[in-house]
Amino acid sequence: MQIFIDSADVKELKAVAETGLVDGVTTNPSLVAKAGGDFFETLRQICAAVPGPVSAEVVAQDTETMLAEGRKLRTVADNIVVKVPLTPAGLRACKTLEQEGHPCNVTLCFSAAQALLAAKAGATFISPFLGRLDDNGQDGMGLIREIRAIYDNYDFQTQILAASIRTANHVRDAAIAGADCATIPPAVFRSLYKHVLTDTGLDAFLKDWKATGQTIL
Ligand code: E4P
Repeated sequence: MQIFIDSADVKELKAVAETGLVDGVTTNPSLVAKAGGDFFETLRQICAAVPGPVSAEVVAQDTETMLAEGRKLRTVADNIVVKVPLTPAGLRACKTLEQEGHPCNVTLCFSAAQALLAAKAGATFISPFLGRLDDNGQDGMGLIREIRAIYDNYDFQTQILAASIRTANHVRDAAIAGADCATIPPAVFRSLYKHVLTDTGLDAFLKDWKATGQTIL
């Protein structure tokens, strides 16, 4: 499963990218507002720091303006992916942009029927929002399983990008359910390393090694 980081904070993204485990980045207008700074400059810096796909979202509501925004976003760097909302206008923009060779990430997906339409529009990525469904009393992970089954039934190539991830268990369960990628907030990414038995086990090994009085180098 590819690991994307869900953030527009350049400093934080650079730090996480240094792990060598990051395959891409997703941003959205709320994350851009939270990070502050010039949108295009931020995108340039993120695209330089992370070689994989970097999703940047359009904000227009009509197809023509979405197309203009999407084409402009794609001039920032080759690894920009145009993020469009799962609306009729967004899917029309997706179809045209994909036909022009601009990869799209269809965002704000909350049902399997929506994901089917995004695949029909030729989207490179579909972003089902797990956490927001769970927050709403629905089964976010069940949606990933449904989309996986539909895409496998018809051999759709659209990649399932599990989004709105809240916990390490979300990451694990999305991987088990067959998501192609997960976009993870930096704090949740850091939590993936953690296990108390790793920490206590390492402490014991180092203590026992010290008692031998030897060195490796
Ligand atoms: C996905 O691309 C979105 O940016 C993101 O995952 C939204 O997550 P949230 O529900 O935590 O805002």
